[in-house]
Amino acid sequence: MSMKLTVNIDHVATIREARGEIEPDPVTAAGICELAGAEGIVSHLREDRRHVNDRDVKLLREIVRTKFDLEMAATEEMINIAMDILPDLVTLVPEKREEVTTEGGLNLRANFDKLKDAIEKFHSKDIDVSLFIDPEPSNIDLSVELNADIIEIHTGKYSNTIKESEQIKELSKIGSVAKMAAEMGLIVTAGHGLNYYNIFPLLNIPEIREVSIGHSIISRAVFTGLHKAVEDMVKILRGIY
Ligand code: PXP
Repeated sequence: MSMKLTVNIDHVATIREARGEIEPDPVTAAGICELAGAEGIVSHLREDRRHVNDRDVKLLREIVRTKFDLEMAATEEMINIAMDILPDLVTLVPEKREEVTTEGGLNLRANFDKLKDAIEKFHSKDIDVSLFIDPEPSNIDLSVELNADIIEIHTGKYSNTIKESEQIKELSKIGSVAKMAAEMGLIVTAGHGLNYYNIFPLLNIPEIREVSIGHSIISRAVFTGLHKAVEDMVKILRGIY
């Protein structure tokens, strides 16, 4: 079974917001990503609406045919929005207003009760829940206790490391946490900072069923077009490149 691709289309909205215009539209981007072989669309509605906004996520819910993953912080405002638009999946992430992008995984212990309440609410509406976590074994036990369906392993540290020995160390952490999570019944995905080069070693971790990629695909799309950028990544994941 090959690894699936979900594309994060937030960066398309970032370009739109740079001019405060109506283009490029992230909703149109989602359709192109699906035509090119993406098996899911991800979008992070942030408290400050710096890229996608309420209109975008409502329309994405309407038009996405594969799987719509609403990435969000477990705040009351976001939980209400998700319960209203009913995405297929919610990915819970930590969120800091001042960060450029999501900087780390969730602190599951410190936010246990809040996360448990949110997960129960989503499950009552048949929405699956993914927790974005750093590759630490303690996070797996807590994810099971929280009754999460999926864990998304934060690959940021692996992706940002240039030193080969550090990369190998991070890969081995990701691999063992993925194995442990799968053995405990969790679906395993991964994301953050993945690109057309650093993706290859992850293909050797069979427990990772899906990757969530945004920045590198939208960046490549500037030169190749979005359809080809998505198709190129899908080919890599299917081992036909
Ligand atoms: N997964 C999560 C939970 C994220 O927050 C992000 C960034 O928005 C991604 C995946 C995609 O990261 P990148 O844009 O670096 O591919």
